[in-house]
Amino acid sequence: METTNAIDQTVQQQLEAQLKELLDEEPETKRFPAPNVALGEELGKAAEIKKQAKKLMANALDDARMGRQISMKPIHEITQRMMESMLNNDDALLNLSLIKRRDDYLFQHSVNVGVFLMAVARSLDFEENVVIAVGIGGLMHDIGMVRIPEDIYNKPTKLTDYELRQVQKHVELGHRLLVRTPGVPEIALVIAGSHHSRQDGSGYTLNHVSERYTQFQQLSAIIDIYDAMTSHRPYRRPWTATNALKKIHEMSGKRQLDSSMVQSFIHRIGIYPVGSVIRLENQLVGVVTQTNWSSLLYPKVRLLADQRDGKKIESRDVDLLEWKDKGQGYTIVASGHPDDWGIDLMEVLPHGEAYG
Ligand SMILES: [Fe+2]
Repeated sequence: METTNAIDQTVQQQLEAQLKELLDEEPETKRFPAPNVALGEELGKAAEIKKQAKKLMANALDDARMGRQISMKPIHEITQRMMESMLNNDDALLNLSLIKRRDDYLFQHSVNVGVFLMAVARSLDFEENVVIAVGIGGLMHDIGMVRIPEDIYNKPTKLTDYELRQVQKHVELGHRLLVRTPGVPEIALVIAGSHHSRQDGSGYTLNHVSERYTQFQQLSAIIDIYDAMTSHRPYRRPWTATNALKKIHEMSGKRQLDSSMVQSFIHRIGIYPVGSVIRLENQLVGVVTQTNWSSLLYPKVRLLADQRDGKKIESRDVDLLEWKDKGQGYTIVASGHPDDWGIDLMEVLPHGEAYG
């Protein structure tokens, strides 16, 4: 295991200062009661649901590409199953969306945006039917991409201005396609048409969003950015979760993204989301296995290596919150991407096989 990679500590410190400020406020998100099903048990089922959702999205995108009508029935059914998984355990599907594999981007991104939207909507206490409708919005939000020429969509280098304008058309094309499709909830039309809009009027959007939907429109913009940044793309490496959150936080400072929705999102996934590699002040290196609701800077981690000699240690699980005041350096000072440390999350995370 390579543990000598420098992680940008200045960025880390700035981020912590900014996010600490944000976290001084009491979150609006609710604290979930204990899950009905243990995470280890639900993860396997959630992985099956996610696989099925990706397959259905592949079919829907295929139908759209061929000019056939998309059947919404299977999309409603799979979103219902996603909901049931969250009722069993809110973290299973969410963890699967936080940990990225190299995969077909559009299918994976569509499902991830659906999962994140549902997870935050649940934390904001929305009713089940709203959570499901928002999830459908996430699944279908980029459907217009099927009309963008593949050589532009998959181009491994920077897009020209012309190509960029072509890609931006996916918003209008997707909205138009969904309007013609029976069984698409109104909120899904809003999300498809406005997930690239920015609060300050920048970005690109199709429709004016009525006030009752602005929360979800903003949330879809935040989640779309986060998931895109942290995913593997042909033209760049994935951003670390913490750097993506820093960027989103900066954008909310510029009034491009709604700060209260940014806060709700961060409160749901954590400052060091599951799968983040972290280094402690005492130089031990580990991976985040669970977020602590009450203190996002002190998650539960699995320690794996010692930065001082770069060697693996016998892995052990530590709740940083319990060690917070013990003065032995169990405070996070840096975070990075598992790839930078040669860490395979499937090997080191509890129930890692589910993330394959
Ligand atoms: Fe998009």
